Amino acid sequence: MRDVTADAPGRVNLIGEHTDYHQGFVLPTVIPQRTRVRMSARDDRRVRATSRETGNTVVEFVIGAEAVTDTWVDYVQGVTHALRSVTTALPGFDVAIESDVPLGSGLSSSAALAVSLLRALRDLYSLSYDDVELARIAQRVETEFVGAPIGIMDQMACSLARDGEALFLDTRSLSYQRVVLPPGAELVVINSGVRHQHAGGEYATRRRESFEAAARLDVEWLRDVSVTQLHLLDALPDPLDRRARHIVTENQRVHDTVAAFAAADLERVGTLFDASHRSMRDDYETSTPEIDSLVNLGRNDPDVFGARLTGGGFGGSVVMLVRADMGNEIATRILAGYHARSNQRGSVLIPER
Ligand code: GLA
Repeated sequence: MRDVTADAPGRVNLIGEHTDYHQGFVLPTVIPQRTRVRMSARDDRRVRATSRETGNTVVEFVIGAEAVTDTWVDYVQGVTHALRSVTTALPGFDVAIESDVPLGSGLSSSAALAVSLLRALRDLYSLSYDDVELARIAQRVETEFVGAPIGIMDQMACSLARDGEALFLDTRSLSYQRVVLPPGAELVVINSGVRHQHAGGEYATRRRESFEAAARLDVEWLRDVSVTQLHLLDALPDPLDRRARHIVTENQRVHDTVAAFAAADLERVGTLFDASHRSMRDDYETSTPEIDSLVNLGRNDPDVFGARLTGGGFGGSVVMLVRADMGNEIATRILAGYHARSNQRGSVLIPER
């Protein structure tokens, strides 16, 4: 039987958080950690999947009879379920999965899994979706099967972003530009070790609140409210005013960050990272004490331009823009400070160790 391999990276969002489900702007890039799959064709409609991270136990299901189990295999079932829109006769397969993208860390382990599976299936069964359509299918894995009401940033980043470049993405049109990071700076990404869950929970609450704010402002998407209209938010009750303010100002910060990168103005990017974090902490309330502690350690470090929570929040990781060639040194001292201040064991994802 034919055998294929495929992989996909995790992602780190530089700025533009909780904007994607309001058709706004985001600026993610890839991390070096990846999910890899080895897949072979079957001549029935059965799927047999193993995951190294959960001990390689074989989990089976039949395509067409997918049922939610609340375990990792839902991401595999979600893929075959979402592919109904592409083919009604998808054959089965055996798949072995391994990943070094940490789970629940705000670095899109689930998107990396869905994208790598969709790449392998495209190759194995000559399916015809392009990389943008692949991202849309991967998003439906979560919104229609797993039950996580997310946007499309993660899947677009895992499918299209490249090393050393950020993807400046308009989530309304899905048009994008590649933004090269200027010399003089590099990224540090530290996982706080506090895990989040996006199916249900606080993410869904924030999303609901943001749409309630939009409805009261009489717009469908907060993307269509600009920073010149912030006074309109005064009419909203708390916390809807703060939820909307985060999204409106965050969209502007994405544009400002892209401009600052183009001008190689690293101090300005740092200021925007810091402002984004404050907005997530105080207005969108997606941070945690552990994340704030990591961000503060970054902010107080003379070689860090700026630091912020990345991803959906309620745990996860921080991203920092730091002076070039100093990433390792800075990450080591920030991690040591973090261990001293919290009971959590963090880990450094960038620079890769
Ligand atoms: C999660 C979701 C994304 C996005 C971010 C927050 O990663 O999957 O769609 O909403 O949170 O920016």
